[in-house]
Amino acid sequence: MLDVIAMLEDQDQESDSNDHIDAAGQVPAEQDTGTPTSSLSAASLRQELKDLGIEPFLDKYIADSVHTVRDVLTAFGLRLPPHFEDLCESDIWSIFRIYLKREFNRRDRLPHINCMEDIVKILVKCQKVIVVTGAGISTSLGIPDFRSSGGIYSRLEKYNLSDPQELFDISLFRQDPSIFYDFAKELLPEFRGYSPTHAFIRLLQDRGVLLRQYTQNIDDIESTAGIDGQRLMQCHGSFKTASCMTCRSQVAGSALFPDIRNGTVPKCSICSTAQKKLERVVSNKRSRASDSPKWDSCDSIDEDAVASFGVMKPDITFFGEELTSGFKSQILEDREVADLLICIGTSLKVAPVAGIPSIMPPSVPQLFISREPAGKEYVFDLELHGQCDAIVRQLATQAGWLAGFETLVEGGQIQKTF
Ligand code: OAD
Repeated sequence: MLDVIAMLEDQDQESDSNDHIDAAGQVPAEQDTGTPTSSLSAASLRQELKDLGIEPFLDKYIADSVHTVRDVLTAFGLRLPPHFEDLCESDIWSIFRIYLKREFNRRDRLPHINCMEDIVKILVKCQKVIVVTGAGISTSLGIPDFRSSGGIYSRLEKYNLSDPQELFDISLFRQDPSIFYDFAKELLPEFRGYSPTHAFIRLLQDRGVLLRQYTQNIDDIESTAGIDGQRLMQCHGSFKTASCMTCRSQVAGSALFPDIRNGTVPKCSICSTAQKKLERVVSNKRSRASDSPKWDSCDSIDEDAVASFGVMKPDITFFGEELTSGFKSQILEDREVADLLICIGTSLKVAPVAGIPSIMPPSVPQLFISREPAGKEYVFDLELHGQCDAIVRQLATQAGWLAGFETLVEGGQIQKTF
């Protein structure tokens, strides 16, 4: 349902401040031909929702039967496309209620943060910074991000996936690990080094103000940049270690690198002897199953378990797998003490990391740095759009930290390892 709302919002990015609902009618005031007296912009409606609360807001705008749910959604700036005409009233109500709840809980921008200078004043004073990072902080190193044009998800056509995210879908991996391994070499850093943005985060750590970095990246470049394991939450795991799909034995991720570079599926050394036995059992079962359908129904073969038997998988969190353990308790603890949130180089499209800004206490300043604006569902106090390496250099300069920053950047110069 939230996806539906995001889709409706995306359709009309510009409409926010222009859409109006009449207190007494449905015609926008600017186009109104006569009657209504007062009119409300989407912004005033939002304010009223916050001031009144959800139920009194509904009493005012819906229970009086003057407006329909569709009118109010439209006034908020959501456009219902024609095929939504087919939705039943209860579905529209569900969308409406979720939307109102989200709007009600949406934080307000802090009025004293309007430009880089304002955020720098906060940066130099803060003591406990949470940094949330995504693929954008590694693109200057030549590692593609996911959703930009030319990113990983635009390069998967030959695999005929119904959704590019299936590349990281655990069910597909179980069925056919070769798809992931055909592509995985593109995800593997083939150098030692880190970007100026990694250096900036390390600088925060060196200054003693990094509460924690929550990274969605699997490249483990944070470790190269010297981010302390205690200060780092690799929310989607990483290539640092790998585990067997069958016996769960864990090895250093680098043990898989030769296979990954060759595009072959790495196998567990412990399970490889058992593999032959399994193949015999499976082939016996298959031939008996074809003779007797009854036998098959009471003792079926788990084809996916067979396909991924003894296959090694980097300890990356695939869609359909549990997130890195400790994420939830850690962020709930951190948000209580954080005094600044900085999100860098992420589209904030994947839960639960995408939910971090909305669970922070509203008084904690929020800065977003990326090439593209954050989604409309987010309210950052300041968005700085552009190359993150250049933006963090500017922040370091204005904060008076340039020398320390440049020393760290120097240490991150790329050295080829392969
Ligand atoms: P995305 O590719 O979704 O977003 C990266 C964002 O960074 C985009 O909005 C880019 O515009 C921006 N960006 C790229 N290069 C930049 C640069 N040099 N400076 C500033 N901004 C830049 O990547 P993530 O948000 O990290 O999951 O994606 C989240 C998750 O989706 C990933 O962890 C991955 C994927 O499915 C798994 O691997 C399980």
